[in-house]
Amino acid sequence: MTTTENLTAEQVRERVAEQLRRSRARSTALTDAVDEDDLVRQHSRLMSPLVWDLAHIGNQEELWLVRDVGGRDPVRSDIDELYDAFQHARADRPALPLLKPREARTYVREVREKVFDVLERTPLEGRRLVQDGFAFGMIVQHEQQHDETMLATHQLRTGTPVLHAEDPPRAAEPLPAREVLVPGGEFTMGTSTEPWALDNERPAHAAHVDAFFIDTVPVSNGEYLAFIDAGGYDDPRWWSEVGWAHRQGANLVAPRFWERGPAGWHRTRFGVVEQVPLDEPVVHVCFHEAQAYANWAGKRLPTEVEWEKAARFDPATGRSRRWPWGDEDPGPEHANLGQRHLRPAPVGSYPAGASALGVRQLMGDVWEWCDSDLRPYPGFAAFPYREYSEVFFGGDYKMLRGGSFGTDASAVRGTFRNWDHPIRRQIFAGFRLARDARPDEVR
Ligand SMILES: [Fe+2]
Repeated sequence: MTTTENLTAEQVRERVAEQLRRSRARSTALTDAVDEDDLVRQHSRLMSPLVWDLAHIGNQEELWLVRDVGGRDPVRSDIDELYDAFQHARADRPALPLLKPREARTYVREVREKVFDVLERTPLEGRRLVQDGFAFGMIVQHEQQHDETMLATHQLRTGTPVLHAEDPPRAAEPLPAREVLVPGGEFTMGTSTEPWALDNERPAHAAHVDAFFIDTVPVSNGEYLAFIDAGGYDDPRWWSEVGWAHRQGANLVAPRFWERGPAGWHRTRFGVVEQVPLDEPVVHVCFHEAQAYANWAGKRLPTEVEWEKAARFDPATGRSRRWPWGDEDPGPEHANLGQRHLRPAPVGSYPAGASALGVRQLMGDVWEWCDSDLRPYPGFAAFPYREYSEVFFGGDYKMLRGGSFGTDASAVRGTFRNWDHPIRRQIFAGFRLARDARPDEVR
């Protein structure tokens, strides 16, 4: 959401209502696309049954908006424990006495009706939780995040395709440069002004980077294939020690969902088997694969600080933009976000979404692995609860930035931080490369 400084409470309410409707339309589409049997089945041990995600979306909404913000009686306090993500690992969720699909749908509808009433009657000021509609924005983002998770479940599901979308547009303009220099020095990282930014993105602070080069586009399938063909998966030189152990243990040989056929590599994408498109960003690779590719290519992954500077720093003004292209919210010309398409766009797409330094596709298409651990920014304060971010600090996570084609614009920002285990491949993650600048390359 844009900065709400100039919005009246009524305008904030309208935006909240619109975002709540959009996220619910998406959740409904993702769960109505399959039959009852598919909804309750676990398509992968990595994922919850879709019906768990649906009721969990409703339960979080009830906890925060109906009970906390609204001060209303519980709709169903008997199910809180079932849908507490910290109580049950994903692998164990199918065995729980979960709400049946019909019950889950009724439940989320009942909660939502009460939430619209709460939205009408709650002054959006006074309490930090409701200032600028924050709690509502947090719940919108939560639902959209689970929608992306449900989209990943759809990708893991076997059977005939049930999701359909147009292909993304192809860039007409050629790429001016393969890599660009990001100047060294300080820039403003994080935010203290985005009304719906989450605790881990706060506060805005000065961060320093040495001058470095970053690729203007993510690594493509075609480039990644060259790594496979060169024996990259069989050469421990390119892998970290832990990465190599994982490559061996999990028997990784190619991105997830790829299969080698007599006529080359194929992949399965939401139930469709197709030739691997060479000009699309590679997706469904884990951090270790990204890092091995980077070593083989003689480069490295960017750190999270570097990624954000490449995305937000405007050398003309010295300030950090909200988004790579400027301060206005994403439109379809800027980025492949919001599940409008069911695939990343070819590398070099979205010239209108380029950063001030000329880096493309930072938002949307594929989440980008960064070579950084999850750490709090200086001045971090947990809000509204420790379980949002703080309990994950210092864990076995690597950072992911920028969102994917399956990320909604309401659930990502120039400052948005995502993280996951370095072995995860079911998420829509790829990467781009960076390298140090040599002294003679820095003006
Ligand atoms: Fe959740």
